[in-house]
Amino acid sequence: MSGWRPLIAASILTADFGHLDRVVRKLERAGVDRLHLDVMDGHFVPNLTFGPDIVAAFRRLTALPLDVHLMIDRPALYTPRFLAASPDSITFHVEVDEPDETKAETLAAIRASRCAAGLAVSPGTAVEAVRPFIGALDVIMVMTVEPGFGGQHFISPAAAKMRSAGEWLEGSGMGGLVHVDGGVNRDTAKEAGYWGAEVCVVGSALFQRGQDAADEVLRVREQATAGRRQAATDDAPTAGPGGPPRLRPRPE
Ligand code: DX5
Ligand code: ZN
Repeated sequence: MSGWRPLIAASILTADFGHLDRVVRKLERAGVDRLHLDVMDGHFVPNLTFGPDIVAAFRRLTALPLDVHLMIDRPALYTPRFLAASPDSITFHVEVDEPDETKAETLAAIRASRCAAGLAVSPGTAVEAVRPFIGALDVIMVMTVEPGFGGQHFISPAAAKMRSAGEWLEGSGMGGLVHVDGGVNRDTAKEAGYWGAEVCVVGSALFQRGQDAADEVLRVREQATAGRRQAATDDAPTAGPGGPPRLRPRPE
């Protein structure tokens, strides 16, 4: 556990889009590790946000890693255009109505562009849905809200999926990370850390009027770390002769 720290990815969905530069500087000052860019097409989810041009604008604004979360019906068609904006990861939903072969091709195309490839799982979807793709994944994003909007409440039953996701990613040996996305804040981060979150997407909690974003980042980190520590000790009694299960240290 020593040295492990959860990464904080700031979702800008509820930020002031009239001042993106100001938003980015505020998040950099708050100490976030990554930016999480929610792309919505009004079909896969009942909301619309932005396209590759805004991702390219964020690319010009910051050196922070950019995680693109595609909540769109046709990731195969649009992924090349998002790749052209040079994000650090692109994650689309396993639920999209495309053949598995197409999903696998899209994941391979993302990786071929030296971008991390991920699949997201909505609360109502079994995490097993991503298992067939595990060797092609750098990210498994477990949604703890119904995709489409920020500011929703954390859906606890969905969080437990992260345990399997983390085990599969560890088994694949690719250094992939488990992202938790939706309703994560200082009050829910311990549960997220307990189930294995390695990247905590935090959105509306960073943009609460009168609340200090840097303080929220610290609290979420503290709580996620506490949850992870608790998981390590909780699992200890059932551990085999080798001692408590190793909680996957972050690949440096
Ligand atoms: C929801 C998005 C999330 C959301 C997170 O569809 O994928 O990234 O913006 O925001 P909060 O933390 O407010 O749930
Ligand atoms: Zn998201």
